[in-house]
Amino acid sequence: MRTTRLELPRLYSEQAAIKRHPARFKVFCAGRRAGKTWLGSDMLITGSGALGGAVDGLPVAWFSPTYKMLAQIWRDVVAWAAPVTRNVSVSEKRVELVTGGTIDMWSLENPDAARGRKYAGVFVDEAAMVPVLEEAWQAVIRPTLTDYAGWATFGSTPRGMNFFKTLYDLGRDPGQTDWASWQLATVANPYIPADEVEAARRDMTERRFHQEYLAEFLEGEGYVFRNVTDCSTEAITEPEEGTYVAGVDFGRSNDYTAICVVDAATKREVYLDRFNGPDWTLQRTRILATLQRYNVTTALLEQNSFGSPNIEEIQKQFRGARAWTTTAQTKRDIVEYLVQLLENRECRLLSRTANEAAAVAESELLAYEQTELPSGMVRYSAPEGRHDDTVIARCLAYWCCRPQRERGIV
Ligand SMILES: Nc1ncnc2c1ncn2[C@@H]1O[C@H](COP(=O)(O)OP(=O)(O)OP(=O)(O)O)[C@@H](O)[C@H]1O
Ligand SMILES: [Mg+2]
Repeated sequence: MRTTRLELPRLYSEQAAIKRHPARFKVFCAGRRAGKTWLGSDMLITGSGALGGAVDGLPVAWFSPTYKMLAQIWRDVVAWAAPVTRNVSVSEKRVELVTGGTIDMWSLENPDAARGRKYAGVFVDEAAMVPVLEEAWQAVIRPTLTDYAGWATFGSTPRGMNFFKTLYDLGRDPGQTDWASWQLATVANPYIPADEVEAARRDMTERRFHQEYLAEFLEGEGYVFRNVTDCSTEAITEPEEGTYVAGVDFGRSNDYTAICVVDAATKREVYLDRFNGPDWTLQRTRILATLQRYNVTTALLEQNSFGSPNIEEIQKQFRGARAWTTTAQTKRDIVEYLVQLLENRECRLLSRTANEAAAVAESELLAYEQTELPSGMVRYSAPEGRHDDTVIARCLAYWCCRPQRERGIV
């Protein structure tokens, strides 16, 4: 019989202890660079506790928050599993091993894609970054484990008190014998130089450092909008009798211009579009065409370095155009108003199937974050590397639904 040697990185002691632990469901809350992803890859390939992994001939799956994050880890998993790989399907993101085991890799940008699969083990990487983690776990991932009575491990740096914290708490609850949790600072990883961590500490606020490197759950951090999926039910509506208002966020050099139209009386979003490109004249034409088609009464347009000249041009042809200047305070006002509408389920947004812009908009809304600054003030923003154009366009449109004097518009 031919034997093949599979060389995986040797786990450091805490990683090995987590892997060995008999709990079926494990939550590994750890600082940045602590070794979460490496542990997850090892477990998928070789198993968790006494439960098997892909080398035992079992089907397992990896879940990442975004396609981009998935692309990175996909390369590592393919490389690690290479000595025992029979087949790799790049399009399906699936590795088949010579043992008959398979590793599927999914992005939780679209959790439904994995519905109906059966797995003996799953690893959810950066689980706290998944805005729909609760739904994804309960409706999609957990059911995939039923047939094999499979295991699951969640690895993540914390991000406020979201559903990852709920899972972490299960592992701390002695009554939940299926669950176990660990909390590990980055310095637990012997392969990361301690002075690197100290250098990071100097580069960020103390609060951030406590979250990112000490793996602490902080109040006031996390996602901003709730009930997004429940309230995103509408199809695009053609103009009817009604009072329509709009919000426009102008793209900067590499992001998008977004326009949102809302029926002010019913607070239903009726239209959403986003586009980019170097030609501002063309962008203005598209904005004006939408404003005119819906006979919009008031439109708020974000004023920034690109906004100002565009707003002047639009105002020449559309009298209801008002400039909106973003400051920390005005941004808080408009964001918190939409938060409140969604919280109370008082508005209806386009469903993610309404058009391409609406699909992007739902993800942007779900991912939108709040960070508590050392001063105690809250800052709202898209996560690093992501856009918020549709978030701002929607907030501006909904802000127009408030009575004039409250909006402070002249
Ligand atoms: N068992 C190990 N043996 C050798 N090196 C390791 C091991 N575990 C982690 N490392 C090293 O630490 C680095 C960080 O590991 P990993 O990417 O798993 O951490 P992470 O917690 O997922 O980080 P991030 O927060 O950036 O996602 C790896 O690039 C690797 O260099
Ligand atoms: Mg990682």
